[in-house]
Amino acid sequence: MNRRELFKSASALAVAGFLPKMAFASTNGPDDPNTGPRETLLLDKGWRFHDGDIPMPVLITHDQTYNAAKAGRALGAASPSYDDSDWQEVTLPHDFVSFQSIENGTNVDQGYRRRGIVWYRNHLKFSNADRGKHIELQLDGIATFATIWFNGTLVARNWSGYNSTYIDLTPYVIYGDGDNSLVVRVDATAMEGWWYEGGGIYRDAWIVKRNPVHIVTDGVFAHPVPDPKSPADWKIPVEVMLNNAGKSATEVTVVSELWDGTIGLLATEKTTATVAPLGNAVVRLDLFYNRPRLWSPADPQLYRVETYILNGDKRLDAVTATCGFRTERFDAKTGFYLNDKPLKIKGVCLHQDHAGVGCAVPEGVLDFRLRKLKELGANAIRFSHNAQNKTLMDACDRHGFLVMAENRNFNASPAYLEQLEWLVRRDRNHACVFLWSVFNEEPMQGTEQGYEMVRRMSAVVKALDTSRPVTAAMNDGLFTALNVSDAVDVVGINYQQHQYDAFHAAHPDIPMFSSEDTSAFMTRGEYKTDTQKHIMASYDDDDDAAPWGETHRAAWKEISARPFVAGTFVWTGFDYHGEPTPHTWPTNSSFFGIMDLCGFEKTAFSIHQAQWIDDKPVLGLAPHWNWQAGDKVRVMACSNLDEVELFVNGRSAGRQAVDRLNMNYWTVDYAPGFIEVRGYRGGKVVSKVRNETTGKAVALRLVKDRQTLTGDGRDAMPVRVEAIDAKGRVVPDANHKVTFGGTAAIIGLGNGDPNCLEAEKGDTRSLFNGLAQVIIQAPDMAGNPAGLVNLVAKADGLKPANIEIRLDAPKVAIPHQPTTAPMMVLDSWFRAPDATERPDPNQKAADTDMNSWAWFRPGELFGAAKADGYSLVAANYTPFASVQKAGGRITFASITGACEVYLDGQPIGKKDDPAPGPLTVTIPPFAGARRLSILFKVTTGAPFGFGDLIRVGGPPGA
Ligand code: GAL
Repeated sequence: MNRRELFKSASALAVAGFLPKMAFASTNGPDDPNTGPRETLLLDKGWRFHDGDIPMPVLITHDQTYNAAKAGRALGAASPSYDDSDWQEVTLPHDFVSFQSIENGTNVDQGYRRRGIVWYRNHLKFSNADRGKHIELQLDGIATFATIWFNGTLVARNWSGYNSTYIDLTPYVIYGDGDNSLVVRVDATAMEGWWYEGGGIYRDAWIVKRNPVHIVTDGVFAHPVPDPKSPADWKIPVEVMLNNAGKSATEVTVVSELWDGTIGLLATEKTTATVAPLGNAVVRLDLFYNRPRLWSPADPQLYRVETYILNGDKRLDAVTATCGFRTERFDAKTGFYLNDKPLKIKGVCLHQDHAGVGCAVPEGVLDFRLRKLKELGANAIRFSHNAQNKTLMDACDRHGFLVMAENRNFNASPAYLEQLEWLVRRDRNHACVFLWSVFNEEPMQGTEQGYEMVRRMSAVVKALDTSRPVTAAMNDGLFTALNVSDAVDVVGINYQQHQYDAFHAAHPDIPMFSSEDTSAFMTRGEYKTDTQKHIMASYDDDDDAAPWGETHRAAWKEISARPFVAGTFVWTGFDYHGEPTPHTWPTNSSFFGIMDLCGFEKTAFSIHQAQWIDDKPVLGLAPHWNWQAGDKVRVMACSNLDEVELFVNGRSAGRQAVDRLNMNYWTVDYAPGFIEVRGYRGGKVVSKVRNETTGKAVALRLVKDRQTLTGDGRDAMPVRVEAIDAKGRVVPDANHKVTFGGTAAIIGLGNGDPNCLEAEKGDTRSLFNGLAQVIIQAPDMAGNPAGLVNLVAKADGLKPANIEIRLDAPKVAIPHQPTTAPMMVLDSWFRAPDATERPDPNQKAADTDMNSWAWFRPGELFGAAKADGYSLVAANYTPFASVQKAGGRITFASITGACEVYLDGQPIGKKDDPAPGPLTVTIPPFAGARRLSILFKVTTGAPFGFGDLIRVGGPPGA
């Protein structure tokens, strides 16, 4: 069976996967009977940010070198006790690059924003009740190279800005009052692409607490497949990967249920498995259902597969996976079929950033973007050239977009194959995903080496999912003896439209589509190209496309004419920061978008609507009607109707048969007033659009994208800012500087002008051709049912605008992981050998002696002394800068035994009563490192030591 047959074969649709690693007969229960179902806690607060690198200390002595090589002993800013108290407090998602000014001399493709190395730190709290749970940190995306420490131990390195990191923190967690330090060093000097990539922890972070016996992250695969002999009968082969972080083998019952929102429970199935301690087990079961409502872009019906595991009657863990019933098929001669019906792919390529917020795009803005793409008539999105935020994938399921999911790094070595594997594992349940793309435009695509790499990458995909074809976006190498087109299921061609026929003739059995085309330039609201000013006209003329691309009209003409070309992915749906081709400084964002960086429509929007929408009338008209007397103006109408007629100030300028591929144009003399286009179907006017000459701007208007925001501190929406004339018409050439205020938090600003050098943060932004955009975010109402926020806009000479937005209580409150303010906890101590004679309290071990003194962490007593005498313990520490400057206190929460306290050999306090009790000593101002020594006087048989935390705090009363 070759790979294409494999893809087509229904039997191959069954899940391929992992074998159970171990199976033990023992049926002990889970280790901690108190742990219930999982908690998923958002870790967006408590983060502290340092802009710039902090070099690691240089090691000189043996003692330093020995200690630095140990778990838990990370140095410098990675150390748990590092002073981050004066770092900037930030909330995730945080794209630090979006806060940078636009500076000439920095990287053009990153939108002339400075990147660099930064640090993040956080302090997490885990209660004693968390003991026994499996605790996982999930980082959804950090750009670009991330090194992660937890409690001084390096726990992960993630070398891609587009994939998630899941880290098992369980072994390192400190429970109770202690501080758990989480540190992330981000090297964003590294780049993975040639577009704006943002920087920092720009997606969400989570702490997931589960039973030690649990379903692993991304561990449920449930993608429905029809019975090849009886297509109305469907099966969901469910694969569940379990893990047991506990200490004994555990038998579980695994139950999967199929649900829909209206009928309820549709199917259920169960099986059992035994999970060995520190082992994984994969279980498989099948759910059957017939005549489901199919998922499609026009009708995106979703179902839920609820999977839970039981030990006896106790539910240990549960996971909800969303799925859609649908089939797909590429035919080499006639293109793409969804649910056995032909569907021409009308797609756009997208990068992930948006005006104002860079890559930290809130869900409300993602939703706005997808709604605009629906309005455009698109049915597909290619996420070029990398994995996306998981919330965006969920939104594509819901909105109904076919998604070409693309891997970032073309590399078949183990670390990079892991990135690809992660992508497939995370996204293979999504009904929206219909193609796995392993690369974009790789120089080795026409070589044997490229072929061998793709063969391996394709095998990684197929091991996890055989239901979608593997593709690659090739811009060359299609005709060499052995090339990547021989290793994929479906060939994606970028540009190269003149090669479609030749490729099809040479390979009539290989399905193909345009993975990328167009690359045409437009500036929103501009109709005259001005090369000096870096302005591109919006008529889609032949010379307004990149030399390797085509105009919007020409590219679709080639694709729509050929049934064997399954469809298009236009470069791009929205403008993006960086890649300002064909210009450079000061231009800092792209011209390729069908919409600008804010999602405001260019004329390309009407062009594609006319080309793509069949089920409702489309009529677009350009340009605006504010010109100079004597101007000759080209007017363009875009329609899917039969005929269009243009009227200038009420007089017909001619009726034309609609040309859905080329659009309709007239050249007319300007006279103030209006132009109107009427669209005819069957000889009758079914639609009219009018552009009027406006008066001068007199007021501002704010238009919200939605009526309400959820008061959860996260929900956000774009607000459109317009300059209007006395009749309420948007003034198409107004460029006023607008200042914003009110109670809504402003998290980003934009205006869609690729040449604008203004900051995207703050409270001021100029309009560009009549429009700007403000992204506002709701406050966290902390459970209060409702409230209002407002946004005010003001500009010189214009009447201000003020809108109110109602805040709704969250339907489901997202719980947060507890964090604490930075504090210094002295948790690394050494104990000298016990002495019968009173030792020098300032005694130290030799720098080369790693063994005479024993390391310990306070919290547990030493137990009964063997003989009367002395026990000396000591800790080295550097107080936080504020304590070095003003002095402070050391608080011992509980000391057992009589003792004397010394700081650098000087007595600073003592405790005479051997009974357990607290002690506080004051410490004077002092710059630099200190040594704290405690000399216990011990009595035979009596326990002694530190029963609880030791903290260094600010001065008394602070
Ligand atoms: C393509 C490339 C895209 C973008 C585009 C601009 O070659 O795949 O990422 O750079 O050109 O035209």
